[in-house]
Amino acid sequence: MAAKRIGILTGGGDCPGLNAVVRAAAKSALARGWGVTGFLDGYCGLVEDRSIELCDSAVSGILARGGTILGTSNIANPFSYTLPAFGSPEKPADMSGRAVEVFKKHSLDALIAIGGDGTLSIGLKLIKKGMPVIGVPKTIDNDLAATDVTFGFDSALAVATDAVDKVHTTAESHHRVMIVETMGRYAGWIALRAGIAGGGDIILLPEIPYSRQALCGAVHSREARGKHFSIVVAAEGAVDEAGEMTVASTVKGSTDPVRLGGIGYKLAELISNNCSSETRVVVLGHLQRGGIPTAYDRWLATRFGAHAAELVARGGFGRMVRLAGTDVNDVPVEQAVAHLRRVDPAGEEVRAALSVGTSFASSTVK
Ligand code: F6P
Repeated sequence: MAAKRIGILTGGGDCPGLNAVVRAAAKSALARGWGVTGFLDGYCGLVEDRSIELCDSAVSGILARGGTILGTSNIANPFSYTLPAFGSPEKPADMSGRAVEVFKKHSLDALIAIGGDGTLSIGLKLIKKGMPVIGVPKTIDNDLAATDVTFGFDSALAVATDAVDKVHTTAESHHRVMIVETMGRYAGWIALRAGIAGGGDIILLPEIPYSRQALCGAVHSREARGKHFSIVVAAEGAVDEAGEMTVASTVKGSTDPVRLGGIGYKLAELISNNCSSETRVVVLGHLQRGGIPTAYDRWLATRFGAHAAELVARGGFGRMVRLAGTDVNDVPVEQAVAHLRRVDPAGEEVRAALSVGTSFASSTVK
């Protein structure tokens, strides 16, 4: 069989474990005698033809390194290109034809696209243009359908849980309400699991609208039971009963332009005005995406990268690697981007939290 050449890119927000996937996919390819091209800065590299050779020395020593050695972009979309090389936010250009040309110019047999919802949706459109793409699911938000877990989530969860553990000290000593704001976009996985693992007293999620009254009621009720502090774990996408989310900014040209953030300060004002406790806020932000991946994420990312190379070997194009139970296998990319994986308000995890006395400040989930 003729030697193959594969391309690899990382798209969307950076995330712990990206380098571990790049390393595993590249090493598995090199071991088969294939060549590996790494495109720089997500789909920018594919459109603008910027790449590096991923030889063994390029992918050695990166297993535990955070970020991505390839660089990434959450605004580079070949179908609506807004970056200065070919377009602008005011005048997006369709550069998908050029992406296909660059792919052919490098004599590639496949492209491994490592990314979340946005990256994989673009991958799906490239598949429809005839490019043999394989997806690997990445995101700290853990919101991709068709995989039980995305790599990066466990590392973010470790940071968030550590923060919830740490704010207990000040909360208890000063008898305060401490609010920890987590990331997660429209899914509450980070807040829910950090809240459960860290013993948060009140957890606010996008999937369970909170009532202002129930939130203050939960703080009062703890006070009345002699618990003179409360820990609130709020997902950035938490919604109130009117369905309102807290938007921090918008990023022009991004596949999902809305940037959430600020719920923590909004809640602090509400609690300070209605409860006797002093309130402080910790916004975790990009700390959740930084630093070295956990052992779990390195382990999962390595299995995902190796499986992606395996898929290339068997011609399993248009498929996304996933974790199903304890197995790593694959599904059509369509299935992965069809809908978001969100917390089930009636599910076992929420019920477990309720059964240990956690409040969701909801008038229905209690
Ligand atoms: O999707 C990952 C994520 O970190 C979200 O949790 C967060 O809402 C968003 O990206 C932040 O994006 P940016 O890095 O563009 O501010």
